[in-house]
Amino acid sequence: MIRSAVVGVGSALPRRVMTNKEFESLVDTSDEWIVQRTGIRQRYIAGADETTASLGEAAARDALANAGLGPADIDFIVLATSTPNNTFPATAVEIQNRLGMAHGFAFDMQAVCSGFVYAISTADAYLRGGGLRRALVIGSETFSRILDWTDRTTCVLFGDGAGAVVLEAIEGSGTMEDRGVLASALRSDGSQKDKLYVDGGPSTTGTVGHLRMQGREVFKHAVGMITDVIEDVFRKADITAEEIDWFVPHQANKRIIDASARKLGIAEEKVVVTVDLHGNTSAASVPLALAHATGQGKIKRGDLVLLEAMGGGFTWGAVLLRW
Ligand code: ACO
Repeated sequence: MIRSAVVGVGSALPRRVMTNKEFESLVDTSDEWIVQRTGIRQRYIAGADETTASLGEAAARDALANAGLGPADIDFIVLATSTPNNTFPATAVEIQNRLGMAHGFAFDMQAVCSGFVYAISTADAYLRGGGLRRALVIGSETFSRILDWTDRTTCVLFGDGAGAVVLEAIEGSGTMEDRGVLASALRSDGSQKDKLYVDGGPSTTGTVGHLRMQGREVFKHAVGMITDVIEDVFRKADITAEEIDWFVPHQANKRIIDASARKLGIAEEKVVVTVDLHGNTSAASVPLALAHATGQGKIKRGDLVLLEAMGGGFTWGAVLLRW
């Protein structure tokens, strides 16, 4: 039985760190409000020369180095992003070119903050289908470009960055002891569009638009949706919350992370939290958190790791994998 295992992980952040304090001169807010309501202390903001493609390329190179592989070893690239360099071609194809790859294929996947969970689940399906050996799965975003910097209810929440993993097809025994993706579940519900969206686009306004969010409404739905899809993954894999070694949730808000972990019965010390450092980096948040946790020596070979994300659409999903 073919499984797809993570054999490398990497990340890239813009040069500039922006603290909560800096927002106090832009909008009517405070460091105290932002920390208390979200857990965010700082975020990284891309400079003019830093883009979704350049950050994605840097994260991909970092993941390849971590795996001891090169671009020639990769068969395809899936990039999760809602902030592509251009409407088309896909930014994944630009990253493919930046890596010097003239073989294989590359495409973008758009599921907002759930993008990386969708992308890893999709790449896993391709690899298990046979005939392909390795994928680069990247989450890269420059949300600073679509923020309304006069809207205090959204501009303080997001940051830029990229994370990536190399997924490799390996022969497994078909048991829960196998390395690789063991179960996943994806969901979407378009009736919730107005709660979190961008008010522009090529086919409607012909503009890029700005992010709009009914934060309290998103918050209200988040914990229930997240725990529901995770319980589905637990059922599929026939495991309980106690068996999880690491919970790597989408990093939007510390209160949502804490409430989800509590409801699921996952101990606090097993939860990877980077929202304080990165803010909400949308599709980049889960791979950035993975890179952070492996860099700190937390996630190790053999650990059972649970990924989760929820975002605009709504979209949401979870992936269980053995590292
Ligand atoms: N600074 C100071 N005050 C603020 C700020 C700010 N930056 N933003 C809002 N406020 C005010 C509001 O105006 C409101 O004032 P009012 O009572 O006078 O009207 C008050 O603070 C409370 O506002 P709420 O929206 O009720 O605050 P809440 O506790 O819900 O926190 C937050 C807001 C942080 C946005 C929260 O609702 C949240 O995290 N929601 C979920 C967001 C999320 O998880 N998104 C994930 C998906 S992202 C994606 O897919 C791209």
